[in-house]
Amino acid sequence: MKIYLVTGGAGFIGSNFIQYILKKYSDITIINLDKLTYAGNLENLKCIENNENYNFVQGDICDRNLVSSLFEKYDIDYVVNFAAESHVDRSILDPETFVKTNVLGTVNLLDISKKAWELKDEIKSDKKYVQVSTDEVYGSLGETGYFTETSHIDSHSPYSSSKASADLMVKAYFDTYKMPVNITRCSNNYGPYQFPEKLIPLIINNCLNKKPLPVYGDGMNIRDWLYVEDHCKAIDMVINSGRLGEVYNIGGHNERSNLQIIKTIIGYLSENVDASINESLITYVEDRKGHDKRYGIDPTKIKNELGWYPETKYEDGIKLTIKWYLENKKWMENITSGDYQGYYNRMYKGY
Ligand code: NAD
Ligand code: DAU
Repeated sequence: MKIYLVTGGAGFIGSNFIQYILKKYSDITIINLDKLTYAGNLENLKCIENNENYNFVQGDICDRNLVSSLFEKYDIDYVVNFAAESHVDRSILDPETFVKTNVLGTVNLLDISKKAWELKDEIKSDKKYVQVSTDEVYGSLGETGYFTETSHIDSHSPYSSSKASADLMVKAYFDTYKMPVNITRCSNNYGPYQFPEKLIPLIINNCLNKKPLPVYGDGMNIRDWLYVEDHCKAIDMVINSGRLGEVYNIGGHNERSNLQIIKTIIGYLSENVDASINESLITYVEDRKGHDKRYGIDPTKIKNELGWYPETKYEDGIKLTIKWYLENKKWMENITSGDYQGYYNRMYKGY
């Protein structure tokens, strides 16, 4: 009976991951530690909230006493750290919050896990700490080439720099203390339960409400999109089989410009929901400061070592995703009725 401490499990990827592993394993216990920031939403976990293997604790990964008390109460086997401030635009407005959660929170989790797992001079080898990181730590690519695990760390935004700093602390715990760790670096995820400040759910929501679709710069920046369930599958494989101390890149070679993504969403909604949703909604706005041009992941290592491959083709995944938001309008309404509107106006309308 393995016990997982999943942090940030009420967010987009964390909630998909908890659903994924509870479906896959019946003999595990999950403790979901989440602060429930604006991005954390317990509605994302409604379908498993009564599962007897699932426990929710509201709290901050920076809270030493709280995290220590969880290790005292449970013999935790795996820490999977999803908890983070995750939105680049917010990091440009407020870098410090990103340093607190993403860097100091990670160090707090590492330190308490290490103490709990220490056995005389060694650390128990059947335990593992997995840091869920991002391809953004590698910076930006030109027109060709891919990020590999040995690409230089060259982060640009306060968000990606806080994630890169956290990665280096995870590496330090491996190099210095032989702490059993892995780092995963995935490309852009899409799918159910993503907060509508991120490109895909924002565009779907704005189309349905006939609001302008804000395109930063010329819309030609490129992201490498992966269906969220394929990311969850990769993390599960890394937990079980990743070689200690290793970094694994995760991505499915699905590069699209932002305009391509937006036009696909418009096309689907116009055909299936309302013919008056069209490209006239596209509105070019000021570019993101320090906007990375292109991301592209080389996933050879995780494919060769762990046998991972993406199961959902982009053409299917994007349809599944749009359908999910259409079938879960209440979920979107609940989110966009709160602070969201003020945030949205500040970001895109300048007031
Ligand atoms: P998200 O913003 O949707 O969710 C983050 C979750 O963390 C929320 O539930 C929030 O309440 C919680 N949280 C924030 N601060 C906390 C704190 N101090 N203590 C405890 N909980 C806290 O983020 P996401 O998109 O699901 O990303 C999850 C992780 O995956 C992040 O670490 C992110 O860097 C990484 N990642 C994201 C993507 C992507 O495309 N979204 C891609 C690669 C990696
Ligand atoms: O690459 C992985 C990263 O992907 C994760 O680490 C981050 O947590 C996640 O937020 C995501 O970062 P991006 O900045 O790539 O995602 P975002 O959805 O914010 O933006 C995607 C692209 O779309 C980017 O080039 C900016 C552009 N964009 C975004 C928004 C919200 C627009 O043109 N208009 C918009 O309104």
